[in-house]
Amino acid sequence: MRLACSDHPVWAGLTWTEPEAFQGHRRRYPDYGGTRHWYNRHMFPYAFVRPLLFGLDAETAHDLTIAGLRRFACLLPTTDAAAGPPVSVMGLNFPNRVGLAAGLDKNGEAIDGLAKLGFGHIEIGTVTPQPQPGNPKPRLFRLPAQQALINRMGFNNRGVAVLLENVKSAKFKGILGINIGKNAATPMACAAEDYVLCLEKVYPFASYVTVNISSPNTRDLRKLQGEDQLEALLSTLKGRQVALADRHGRYVPLTLKLAPDLDPAQIQGIADALRRRRFDAVIATNTTVSRPGIAGEPDAAQAGGLSGAPLFELSTAVVAALAKALAGELPIIAAGGITDGKRAAAKLAAGAELVQIYSGLIYRGPELVGECLRATRDDSR
Ligand SMILES: Cc1cc2nc3c(=O)[nH]c(=O)nc-3n(C[C@H](O)[C@H](O)[C@H](O)COP(=O)(O)O)c2cc1C
Repeated sequence: MRLACSDHPVWAGLTWTEPEAFQGHRRRYPDYGGTRHWYNRHMFPYAFVRPLLFGLDAETAHDLTIAGLRRFACLLPTTDAAAGPPVSVMGLNFPNRVGLAAGLDKNGEAIDGLAKLGFGHIEIGTVTPQPQPGNPKPRLFRLPAQQALINRMGFNNRGVAVLLENVKSAKFKGILGINIGKNAATPMACAAEDYVLCLEKVYPFASYVTVNISSPNTRDLRKLQGEDQLEALLSTLKGRQVALADRHGRYVPLTLKLAPDLDPAQIQGIADALRRRRFDAVIATNTTVSRPGIAGEPDAAQAGGLSGAPLFELSTAVVAALAKALAGELPIIAAGGITDGKRAAAKLAAGAELVQIYSGLIYRGPELVGECLRATRDDSR
């Protein structure tokens, strides 16, 4: 058996014969995944890495993780994305139902490393037309007792040109979502121009494009979810999508990412607009400005969006309300508070076709992906 990193020049050509002990084990336990399975389980225990990362401030730990995933992708244990049954959503064939939510790899720097964790799709961004530093630090806070995060990053990113260079140099051939937004300095009246510019640039390189109008950390961005502004934005982007499909000879689906802080009438209004404008999917949800169940905890009063376990109920309720309002016309991709396999399965039960995770990964590490893969297989529900 070849080593997991045999494509790296240092290891090229090296082969590894499975010892008799492993072969005997395999005979006794047919489910045993072989030497690679052993390597995955024992060489990179997240329980060992986590205290080191949690000893650093949250953003430094994040930056180190992205750098590690980028530089040492070849050494990472691999979870087979094909382990989940494939599913067709938005006309795309996803190898499984579990994806990475936007915001973890804003610049598309670590796509190949992240792909090794077993995701059926990876969403990068949010990217804006121009690079921007985001809000002043500190802007990312852990609430470990609640398995939660609060962030007010503010779309810190290196701009769409750098993101595309990273995408072009990645080897990943799976489903890549690119999440687009507006620069903080762009007046709200010109917001659509930023989305159009990003859409045009990323279109040839994306499997699907997400329109993010739900971050709480860019002033007034969520106002784009309001009836008139939303209708105008969706119609502009849909028109551009049709033209781009013609130009590139390839239809790239568009999804809209929503906040969890919407009342039932707003959800109904947005669902109607998505159906009218024939968007391809909706992602529910982004982080919340509310603070369910964490009042009085250290850092609970920090400004920004709350994610992780406390977001689960609110976000799943939005999935269920959307499922009702959309009546199966548009698929739903669920993100928000998935910290174990049961919660991933609950999102599907609420009406989602795919799930995405972010904060749970920070607390549980790569094993969460495998757990969600198992829980979202059709035969385990
Ligand atoms: C630090 C951080 C940064 C994020 N940045 C983005 C972003 O740039 N674009 C976006 O659409 N969502 C962003 N999100 C939201 C996540 O994609 C996800 O929707 C949300 O965190 C809920 O999922 P979770 O509870 O699994 O984290 C971010 C979340 C966190 C915690």
